[in-house]
Amino acid sequence: MPARSVLVLHGPNLNLLGMREPGVYGRVTLPEVDRLIREHGRRRGVRVECRQSNVEGELIGWLQNAEREGFSGVVLNPGAFTHYSIALRDAVSAIQVPVVEVHLSNIHGREEFRRHSVIAAVARGQIAGFGPQSYLLGLEALLALADTRPRTRVNQRRRPRV
Ligand code: DQA
Repeated sequence: MPARSVLVLHGPNLNLLGMREPGVYGRVTLPEVDRLIREHGRRRGVRVECRQSNVEGELIGWLQNAEREGFSGVVLNPGAFTHYSIALRDAVSAIQVPVVEVHLSNIHGREEFRRHSVIAAVARGQIAGFGPQSYLLGLEALLALADTRPRTRVNQRRRPRV
């Protein structure tokens, strides 16, 4: 069993990938995206679990429980919640598990209202504009972080002081 487990969360309307605005989001469906992510995880020795929800509260619950469920990092595409959900932002900010924000499209080159993310400041970083590859880069970003394990009190005590 791989040592690390990463949770991938897709927000609202991402279940429609492949049919939804293909000029912006491409023709790849969500099950295909999830397969690409899982394959990449296997190559990198990471167990990946992918979930999608159109419900803000469900995404928040998954974020709050990520550490308890044994995940060491979260790749999050918050969909449209990116631009206005303070509740989702507060959940990202509240948890110890590192969260990388990803987007299929380059939100900074789109409509004005998409250029601001309320999540970005509390995420470890943001990757946008690479289509399904954004998720793989998000996984790589988590791996590149010095320690993707949950920062539990026990782990903190074990770390040498610097
Ligand atoms: C998105 C960008 C958001 O602005 C939009 O609401 C989405 C998808 C992306 O992956 O490019 O649903 O998060």
